[in-house]
Amino acid sequence: MADFVKVGGLGDVSASLPRALRKSHDVRVLIPGYREVLSHAHDLEFVSHLPGKADVPSCDLARFDTADGLPIYVVVHAGLFERNGSPYLNPNGQDWEDNDIRFALLGLAAAEMAVGAGDPDWRPQIVHANDWPAALAPAYLAWRGARVPTVFTVHNLAYQGVFQRETMGRLGIPDQAFQINGVEFYDKLSFMKAGVFYASHVTTVSESYAREITSAESGCGLDGLLRTRAAEGRLSGILNGIDEQWDPRSEPSLFQNFEAGDWAGKRRNSSALRKHFGLAVSRGPLFAVVSRLVEQKGIDLIVESAEDIVAAGGQMVITGTGERKLESDVRSLVERHPGQVAAHIGFDESEAKNVYAGSDFLLMPSRFEPCGLSQMYAQRFGSLPIAHRVGGLADSIQDGVNGFLFQKPSASSFRGALVRAFGIFGAKARLNTMRHSAMRRAAGWQDACSGYELVYARSIGNS
Ligand code: ADP
Ligand code: GLC
Repeated sequence: MADFVKVGGLGDVSASLPRALRKSHDVRVLIPGYREVLSHAHDLEFVSHLPGKADVPSCDLARFDTADGLPIYVVVHAGLFERNGSPYLNPNGQDWEDNDIRFALLGLAAAEMAVGAGDPDWRPQIVHANDWPAALAPAYLAWRGARVPTVFTVHNLAYQGVFQRETMGRLGIPDQAFQINGVEFYDKLSFMKAGVFYASHVTTVSESYAREITSAESGCGLDGLLRTRAAEGRLSGILNGIDEQWDPRSEPSLFQNFEAGDWAGKRRNSSALRKHFGLAVSRGPLFAVVSRLVEQKGIDLIVESAEDIVAAGGQMVITGTGERKLESDVRSLVERHPGQVAAHIGFDESEAKNVYAGSDFLLMPSRFEPCGLSQMYAQRFGSLPIAHRVGGLADSIQDGVNGFLFQKPSASSFRGALVRAFGIFGAKARLNTMRHSAMRRAAGWQDACSGYELVYARSIGNS
């Protein structure tokens, strides 16, 4: 949750969706007590002690409210959550060895709260679990026969939380759940499958991705079950929004605030960005990458196409972290093009905002993309996304209107879109029309909230 710690887009969604829904519902967030959460928690209040199950330990449930009044319940267990490293990985970049126990505890705590055993003063009508770390919540509820409606959202099917069969006993999962109609996944245990199987309703973060994951090609082995859910009317796609606070007119970290039409203001951000990254002064287009550096994001295609971009008079700024190999590929790209390509291997939110504001185009040749938020932030800041026509990219970008789409995740298809982008950059009136459309695209949370409300209402009705 971006208030405390963020690994990617799920952090943004976890911070903004509950706030958007809160306008008409009593939404409360349950989150593991990571160090970063506890250090932000003023007036943490003990709520109750929750029982464990098999090797999943008991824990404390605590509560605090954010400065804007959003209630946060915290699963407090120092041994499992108060560590250096990311929520999912140890400082060497490997999965924490006890991720099964850590996230089973989150699911179990949610189930306890849902049956009224967590907070004596509050019990939710519905539980909305997000991605594999929360996926056992609907499953634990089902195994104890509780009829609490649950919604499970898949943010990225590629990260599934798959563990050895032996983990079943450790987590107190009934033996009979180890079957095709249960948690079994190629003789292992899949948290993601548990979420999809046991939830009253499954959503994912764009309509296109909801369709794509029912195919063998993009279904990560769960396409059969997802096809069944789709046929039952229990799978929907709801496109994410972005927070209203992402606004170039008021964003305090920008070199200069600007609005649509104030292209001189945007240009000043470009100059400042070039200076910050040590790029040469240039009148050519500035391409940006703000991304986790992982295979999904097509970083190899970016590295491959960078030569063409530089040869055509463009420059590039890359910011992000991820797989070692891709980080080092980016570093050598920078060494080959000093003054024309620059990178920061790391992630800093304010810097990312300056990159969106100062760039002309954002590159997003993702192989697959459940939703994608970077392209929406870029549009809001007047940087036109150039993206593979897939998932949420296809649903949020209109080709030639507020960005560019290309058909295949290949260097040649990508190159076609880059050529079109260079063409538009040379035709200022058309460039500015596109920037206008991008900045004005309605990207708030309103539609998504209506979508979730419908799903919640149906799930409550059917339970
Ligand atoms: P994903 O969630 O797959 O990474 P999204 O486009 O949905 O992709 O979300 C990306 C969000 O994460 C943006 O807010 C972006 O600024 C941020 N981000 C990008 N790279 C990193 C990184 N290496 N670490 C943390 N956050 C990042
Ligand atoms: C995942 C997806 C990304 C999506 C984000 C938030 O990290 O990779 O496409 O935008 O979740 O839903």
